[in-house]
Amino acid sequence: MKERMNYKKNMSLNNMDTITGIDQEISIDNKQSTDKVVEIQNLAHFFGRGELKKQILFDINLTLKTGEVVILKGPSGSGKTTLLTLMGGLRSPQEGSLKVLDSELVGARKHRLVEIRRNIGYIFQAHNLLHSLTARQNVQMSLELHNHLSAQEMKAQSITILEAVGLGEHINYYPKNLSGGQKQRVAIARALVSHPKLVLADEPTAALDSKTGRDVVDLMQKLAREQGCTILIVTHDNRILDVADRIVELDDGRITVNIEN
Ligand SMILES: Nc1ncnc2c1ncn2[C@@H]1O[C@H](COP(=O)(O)OP(=O)(O)OP(=O)(O)O)[C@@H](O)[C@H]1O
Ligand SMILES: [Mg+2]
Repeated sequence: MKERMNYKKNMSLNNMDTITGIDQEISIDNKQSTDKVVEIQNLAHFFGRGELKKQILFDINLTLKTGEVVILKGPSGSGKTTLLTLMGGLRSPQEGSLKVLDSELVGARKHRLVEIRRNIGYIFQAHNLLHSLTARQNVQMSLELHNHLSAQEMKAQSITILEAVGLGEHINYYPKNLSGGQKQRVAIARALVSHPKLVLADEPTAALDSKTGRDVVDLMQKLAREQGCTILIVTHDNRILDVADRIVELDDGRITVNIEN
């Protein structure tokens, strides 16, 4: 209902009162396309109910532009993962406005969140590879969500991206036979193979030594530049701050720093 109301609001802003179908409303929204991949206004988030209800995010205002590499830092428990999962459509936002690729997620139905997730690449601290699949099969899995490709095309694209992350010799290896850094590079390949407009990475270097961690973020930055995608990296690692175009800091659920780097 709220979703519809938001579209109604957009429509009236555009003086297009005569259009009614929800699909048409969505396509109008797409036409409003800007260089803002994520636009957050006055976002608040709570966990728990009743007396246990606790506010975790307060009045978040943040924009991620096309092609930006943004680092999100802040103390443990400050709300970084919560914010990242909200942006990724992995959790329903409750209050304020959160637009991802021009789609309002506050009040959005489940199918809309699922649709948005297809346009986002995720990289987590623990690479989350499937152990029964080879490097190539792990990467290819993320292409299978996009059903316009033939099996042969999917295979070829998976191999190309694995070569791009320096794993040309390890395409048919299972995760147990790869090092931590190699596994994280498979996870990067998996996140980027479908050319998403947005990549969300939660502490992608946490399990790596500093040299490997450095290589991994350099690689993410290089691939992001080549593909023109926006990338948000949550990190505690001060040694990688220089890859960022912008640094955002959360403290106790509030943005305290938001600066160009
Ligand atoms: N599912 C949940 N239910 C209740 N509280 C939660 C839940 N997830 C997180 N929290 C609480 O929300 C706050 C923010 O957690 P979050 O995981 O976003 O922090 P973080 O900044 O990512 O921390 P870290 O750097 O340790 O990963 C914490 O106080 C945490 O206890
Ligand atoms: Mg976290």
